[in-house]
Amino acid sequence: MKELHSAELNEILEENNPEVLLEEMLPFEKLMMRYRCALMEIETKFKVLNEEFSLQYNRNPFESITSRIKNPISIINKVKRKGVELSLESIEQNIFDIAGVRIICSFPEDIYILANLLIQQDDIILIKKKDYIKNPKENGYRSLHLIVDVPIFLSSEKKHMKVEVQFRTIAMDFWASLDHKLKYKKNVQNPEKIALELKKCADVINQMDHRMQEIRNMIDFKGSAKRI
Ligand code: GTP
Ligand code: MG
Repeated sequence: MKELHSAELNEILEENNPEVLLEEMLPFEKLMMRYRCALMEIETKFKVLNEEFSLQYNRNPFESITSRIKNPISIINKVKRKGVELSLESIEQNIFDIAGVRIICSFPEDIYILANLLIQQDDIILIKKKDYIKNPKENGYRSLHLIVDVPIFLSSEKKHMKVEVQFRTIAMDFWASLDHKLKYKKNVQNPEKIALELKKCADVINQMDHRMQEIRNMIDFKGSAKRI
């Protein structure tokens, strides 16, 4: 199936009356606005937890949080790949990673503590969970992926939006970032060997994560009621 590239999108834009196009784009822009609001809601929830834990336990439950909205070309390509209808309703119903948040934790156990704290909140509905930490992908990829439903409150309506939340340790993120970079290198001579090497690196990194977790578990956090 042919992928759509930005040059082709520019061609479509040039061939059409900009005013008509802008009007037609408005419902799409409104949908993207709703996803941006959903991202803000989820990010705030994690920032609130960070504030609380920093004060109470003198420790941050995560290292960093980033978010992104999928770009229109990637959305169209994913719609094509999934073979679903290209309409706003269909996009909302079938594509669950238009809004994405990535939480990077220091230690593997923090991932599950944070994920549970999010899911337990009474306005959050867990739609789907993919635990690539307990069940890593064959190539060595590790992360915990949640799709959650979060309500957003607009001036005259409440909307339920889906957000993908990815949790990783610093080590898992290190591997995934380099793996992602290497994926763009096409026409490699020995893809099997490279895949094997990457898998070996993922296993070494995983061992390191466990050792770091054990070191932390050996350290007595005096004065902290609960370790997080
Ligand atoms: P996508 O179409 O890629 O969104 O796949 P999916 O809907 O089946 O979702 P899945 O939960 O399996 O993975 C979604 C996201 O996880 C990707 O967009 C990446 O951010 C990340 N991911 C999954 N597999 C890999 C991998 O092998 N390497 C890296 N670097 N990232 C991955
Ligand atoms: Mg994705």
